[in-house]
Amino acid sequence: MIVVCEKCDCRLKVDETRLNPSIKSFSVKCPRCRHTSTIFLPEEVQEVTPVRPVEIKPARAGYTIVITNQKGGVGKTSTGLNLGLSLALLEKRVLLIDFDVQANLTISMGYQHTTSFHDIVHDPGLNLGSELIQTSYPGLWLLPSNKNMVLLSKKYFGKNDYEYILKKQLSTIRDRFDYIIIDTPPSIEFFTINALTSSDLAIVPTQCDYLSTHGVDQVLNIIDLIRRKTNPVIKARVLVTMYDEAATASRMIFTKLKNLHPERLYQTIIPRDERLREAQIMSMPVINYDQKSISGLEYMALAREIIDTSAKNR
Ligand SMILES: Nc1ncnc2c1ncn2[C@@H]1O[C@H](COP(=O)(O)OP(=O)(O)OP(=O)(O)O)[C@@H](O)[C@H]1O
Ligand SMILES: [Mg+2]
Repeated sequence: MIVVCEKCDCRLKVDETRLNPSIKSFSVKCPRCRHTSTIFLPEEVQEVTPVRPVEIKPARAGYTIVITNQKGGVGKTSTGLNLGLSLALLEKRVLLIDFDVQANLTISMGYQHTTSFHDIVHDPGLNLGSELIQTSYPGLWLLPSNKNMVLLSKKYFGKNDYEYILKKQLSTIRDRFDYIIIDTPPSIEFFTINALTSSDLAIVPTQCDYLSTHGVDQVLNIIDLIRRKTNPVIKARVLVTMYDEAATASRMIFTKLKNLHPERLYQTIIPRDERLREAQIMSMPVINYDQKSISGLEYMALAREIIDTSAKNR
């Protein structure tokens, strides 16, 4: 089990087998800052069973979704992970691609020291199809990231046809999946441009806070540019994340977003939810950590909305 120091955010590995099964919490001292954190164990980690699949069948395999916003910390990685598992629970075959040097998605799923897209592009002995990780969640696969990814950007950014590197590789495996979801960094450069060029749909997660409407406009303008230059089919939708119904400012900005983007805003809204943060500490998608969590249920609703709209848009 990975736990996080409350004071310095250091991630510590704890051997679960040494914990008394009857305890509800335990203390752990951080080797870096010496702070003692109290870790609360979830009351019960529930078994998640696949729910009945939605009837609409995808017309084509490999519908590709990029999660993007150049603003940091808006819930891109959390959306990628939780939407991915929700689609898999609806019995879709899903590939998650961690296309961010930070490797937050890879770490959130409990993986380290894995082969990344960089390694596949550079080592002639490797191919994408055989380097995907089959996760412990049925139907959910991962293409991880690692620190080598930064070299990919250094080597290719700005070179001829650099925008199509991911798209070319994905053409070899698209048929194996119903949905491919790409998590991107909080910037518009090599990785985000490749991901936008490869995708059918861009989801732009945004919080309802000051300047967020401006940030969404900027991303939508970039997507318009991509549509003109490298990917004429890409569509864009906006997803409100970490919504706080009790805060007047959240409600005001939500109304503004609704007025600005009536066609683009998802009906589903992801609420701010402490359970999601706890789940992340336990390296789990929230619906697996707590089947009744409000954010987990809304990510399931988002998956249904996406299955419905992606079938119509193909
Ligand atoms: N619905 C939610 N409720 C509460 N906390 C959330 C929610 N969604 C995300 N968070 C928390 O917000 C923080 C940022 O989320 P996340 O890493 O998904 O954002 P990001 O856009 O991928 O960030 P970056 O731009 O750095 O890649 C994390 O600590 C995460 O646990
Ligand atoms: Mg992220």
